Amino acid sequence: MAIFNLGSINADYFYRVPHLPGPGETLASTGLSRGLGGKGANMSVAAARAGARTIHIGAVGADGLWARDQMMESGVDTRHVATLADTPTGHAIINVDDAGENAIVLLPGANHAIPSETQEAALSEAAAGDILLVQNETLMQAEMAKTARDLGLYVAYAAAPFDASATAAILPYLDFLILNEVEAEQLAQSIGKTPEALGIADVIITLGAKGARWINGSQTRDFPAMPVTAVDTTGAGDTFTGFVLAARDRGLPMEQAIALAMRAAALMVTRHGTADVIPDLKDVDEARF
Ligand code: RIB
Ligand code: NA
Repeated sequence: MAIFNLGSINADYFYRVPHLPGPGETLASTGLSRGLGGKGANMSVAAARAGARTIHIGAVGADGLWARDQMMESGVDTRHVATLADTPTGHAIINVDDAGENAIVLLPGANHAIPSETQEAALSEAAAGDILLVQNETLMQAEMAKTARDLGLYVAYAAAPFDASATAAILPYLDFLILNEVEAEQLAQSIGKTPEALGIADVIITLGAKGARWINGSQTRDFPAMPVTAVDTTGAGDTFTGFVLAARDRGLPMEQAIALAMRAAALMVTRHGTADVIPDLKDVDEARF
């Protein structure tokens, strides 16, 4: 089967800082690097490196051909990544502090101008049993989810970055929801329901160093995290999502899919950067924690 991912593509500018800047503060960075990122692109690269046939649906500006090419070199099918003449590629300014924590400012750019024909052309290749994945760095997630549901796809949604109205609109069409603890809290506050009460087949709450929780009907299972020293948590959640769906796509039971994704995410927090450093299956198999 395949994973169709409607998702953002960003140029990530990483600034290393001693601590995250506060209001009114001017802070000198100790280093800058640029790489491919965007929650969507990271998830696609992770899913492809985890072995899934992954079709990305998105857009870059004329300044973002390198990003599309890098996705292709990582094994992602980029035929449905549009190039827009008059819109810049999305970008992210990412501050990472000495504890590995981050704070991100986004410019959506082309991610908010993905042509509807591009989305329709991609979905016309999908078949029942394929996976549609979406998150909140593009627009039109709910429309896409509804169409995909009607076609018999398994619809997966990462509620990141949290957006109350986007989340409320998409909830009726979901088979799979993944969110972190903060997003779970925001969801509970905005719609007055806990993730457990949503009636979605599979819900995963990632808990950082405390692991992850899988909610499946009336059952809840907790999975421990690997003991690692974090240098940069950026992209760890995206890597988890890509791995867990790729594993599900090749028929692994959810327990095994989550355990594998946990190891991939653990490796990711030990590495600086985003798509450039997402592990593949071999890395994850060989990792000793
Ligand atoms: O989740 C990490 C990602 O968030 C970064 O790659 C950045 O582009 C932002 O989208
Ligand atoms: Na990282």
